[in-house]
Amino acid sequence: MAETLVFIHHRNPIGVISPRLYGQFIEHLGRCCYDGLWVGKNSDIPNNEGWRTDALVALETMGVPVLRWPGGCYADHYHWRDGIGPAENRPRRLGMSCGLTVEDDNTLGTPEFLHYAAELGADAYLAGNVGTGTPQELCDWLEYCNSAFDTDLTRMRKADGAEKPWNVPFWGVGNENWGCGGNFTPAQYALEYKRYATMLRHIDPSAQLVICGWDTEEWNRTMLETIRPHFDLVDHVSIHRYWSAGPALTFNEDDYYNMIKESDKTEPYVARTAQIIAGAVGSRHTIGIALDEWGVWSPEARHTVNYEEPSTLRDAISAAITFEGFHRQCQVMSMANIAQTANVLHACVQTEGKNMWLTPTYHTFAMYRPHQGATAMHLTVTGSHSLPDGSQGVSATASRAADGSFTVSLVNRHLENSAPVRLAGCGMQTAEGKVLTADSPAAVNSASVPEKVAPAPFEVTGSGEEGWLCTLPPHSIATIRIA
Ligand code: AHR
Repeated sequence: MAETLVFIHHRNPIGVISPRLYGQFIEHLGRCCYDGLWVGKNSDIPNNEGWRTDALVALETMGVPVLRWPGGCYADHYHWRDGIGPAENRPRRLGMSCGLTVEDDNTLGTPEFLHYAAELGADAYLAGNVGTGTPQELCDWLEYCNSAFDTDLTRMRKADGAEKPWNVPFWGVGNENWGCGGNFTPAQYALEYKRYATMLRHIDPSAQLVICGWDTEEWNRTMLETIRPHFDLVDHVSIHRYWSAGPALTFNEDDYYNMIKESDKTEPYVARTAQIIAGAVGSRHTIGIALDEWGVWSPEARHTVNYEEPSTLRDAISAAITFEGFHRQCQVMSMANIAQTANVLHACVQTEGKNMWLTPTYHTFAMYRPHQGATAMHLTVTGSHSLPDGSQGVSATASRAADGSFTVSLVNRHLENSAPVRLAGCGMQTAEGKVLTADSPAAVNSASVPEKVAPAPFEVTGSGEEGWLCTLPPHSIATIRIA
């Protein structure tokens, strides 16, 4: 079988891969927070201040650089004051997102979320309420969280256990305001945004503000045009992308390859959005793209099943391909948050009562962790076998760490054929690898078989001079550290 050559180019690296491109998103939706990550302080499931410990430890190990909460669509109904103070005094409210209406007793509120983010070592990202909120309400939340002044609001924070400001860095001004967040027109939303953002800047000029973009050029252009000349009020443009290809588990060969194609479409979507932003804003101001919801949304994941879906090896491969695009677009992307961390949609962990297990996608995140904060390198892939549509069967991404070592991650997209690979251009003395695969791309982990899909040691031979040699199994992901 022909050997694929992956050649790493040293000159003109692409840029630094922000760790925040490996962010997470948790919403009060289905069993992501309540009955997922959050079990409550009195649960007999071991927990840290109400957060289940097994998931906390797993997510810390995987790495969560930034965590977005409480929505999603939930954010535009959420009133943050409901979730502070003694738990027994908190109101019971109707929580709403994606057609699911739930009773929220607000035991999980701002102090609990910010404690969790701190335990994970994650920057917090709070999504504010524009749909049913006011600029004053969002300013008050910012003051409660970030102000160092002695005010009624900061005294409330202190009474909730946080003497010092939380310094929450990221603040979303609404969510999907073209749809569930109020069905605004782009110009209406931009005017609202301008009002909110002006006032938020007065409270904490260091808070980074996120405006809601969309996948239509018309929305993004009109929104940015309306904001002009106040681009200084915008730090990030939020966009979302979900995809699927056939059923989650019983997909056929065409569906498998369509999922690969869908995964590849995220990068041009980001690049197109970056062009629109650059065209509107020019070179005087930098606005990052926050893809703050992304992932596989299978047709099975509907409101009747709490938006849960089986999480397969195919989804893990889809995430790996998505990361390749993130690395190539790292100069325009400031953040990305997979939707969602637990149980809902493209989850990294799943739970059932006392059981918690890691999905194949969890392992993609863990295996790609060394790329966080490293410098993305250009590379070329030649000689690879082809997929049925003629595209390359092997894809790759590489980064160089501050100590000069390289991490190369490879995907063999082919359903059936293995792929011998030679890695060249990086030299070095030692190489060690891990591989993620299974007998079928439909393989999943579960409470009873939690490690059906788990990383295994991966044989790498050769040397820095002749090139590092390995053979990728069909439908697999590998990460090789070359030092
Ligand atoms: O992640 C699920 C939902 O998808 C979010 O609430 C919303 O923002 C998006 O439409």
